[in-house]
Amino acid sequence: MRLRTAAARRFAGALPSLGVLAVLALALAGCSPERYPQTALLPLSDFARIGDDVQDVTFYWALGVFILVEGALVYSIFRFRGRPDDPEPSQIHGNTTIEIIWTLIPALILAAIAVPTVKGIFETNQTPPNSMKIEVIGHQWWWEFRYPDAGVTTANEMFIPQGKTVEVIISSADVVHSFWPPRFAGKRDVFPGRETRLWWKADSTGLFPGQCAEYCGIQHARMAFHVRSVSTSDFDAWIEHMKTLGPKPAAKPAAAPAGDSLKTASAGATAPPGTAQQKDTAAAPPQGPEYAAGEKLFMTKGCLGCHSLQAANAPKGLIGPNLATVGARSYIAAGWLANTDENLERWIREPQAVKKGVLMPNLGVTADEAKALRAYLRAHK
Ligand code: CUA
Repeated sequence: MRLRTAAARRFAGALPSLGVLAVLALALAGCSPERYPQTALLPLSDFARIGDDVQDVTFYWALGVFILVEGALVYSIFRFRGRPDDPEPSQIHGNTTIEIIWTLIPALILAAIAVPTVKGIFETNQTPPNSMKIEVIGHQWWWEFRYPDAGVTTANEMFIPQGKTVEVIISSADVVHSFWPPRFAGKRDVFPGRETRLWWKADSTGLFPGQCAEYCGIQHARMAFHVRSVSTSDFDAWIEHMKTLGPKPAAKPAAAPAGDSLKTASAGATAPPGTAQQKDTAAAPPQGPEYAAGEKLFMTKGCLGCHSLQAANAPKGLIGPNLATVGARSYIAAGWLANTDENLERWIREPQAVKKGVLMPNLGVTADEAKALRAYLRAHK
């Protein structure tokens, strides 16, 4: 009778732990990576796969150890549990053979994990040859992307060509940040006055989120960005289009820009949503009354003190993001607000309410002025 009571009590004592396990299993089942695009567990590049493979190897070794150790523990608990009339168990301190075995086995497991880890460290620190360079500059709280070979600049939405290695050269305009495009590569610290590097070759096309991963001030959590991976032909078309968004060289014959926009238009059929709209605007910018009013406001409200509307040969060192293609971006306010007309107007009117502490002040823009500015910026694609 006493035994049964003790067993029942033990079972009742284990119930909370079983409950916790059940809740944990349920919670883990909800962690399907497909529903959380900002995951490092679904790698989409060669670089990301190196890290993911190391994590897989480590995980399976840990899983094996867990099953063996916990299995032995649970087996022993039930098989050798104490009964009320049991004598004192025999004491077995210091078994040299067992101690050697359980020192050697973990050492061998660690060595097995160390080999792919060290190999991965060397591989990821070696940029493959013939990579395309992109400069990434962290700002409080947005990201600048410069393509030095093409001489074009954009912000918060990084275009990359699928199937081509990009080398990212990272620096900061102010404080320490961390650049993290989880589907493509690991985190890389971003320092003022020092360059760090990352590289990757994207497998897929699409729009993928990234995030600043180092606390950098009040809006650190909203210092996000997106990587837009497109086919090489769409990428080339995008670069050509970007080159037209800036002052033209004086000596260029008049026929040349038309050729450029034709080239862009021919790629339009397969271009991503942003690119497809871009050439319409380049060919015939909407000149409605709102656009004209917005243009005037943009020039007089002080916007140009911090923002550039040139993608080509854009000035360096500006405080605010480049807006040459802001109308075509999927997000505004550094990757966290969908680029809808409503959000764009609100962002222009009350930046301090939308993203407190952001360097753009509330400029006393009225609702009508915000509409006009939105129309003007929307046309910049
Ligand atoms: Cu930049 Cu956190």
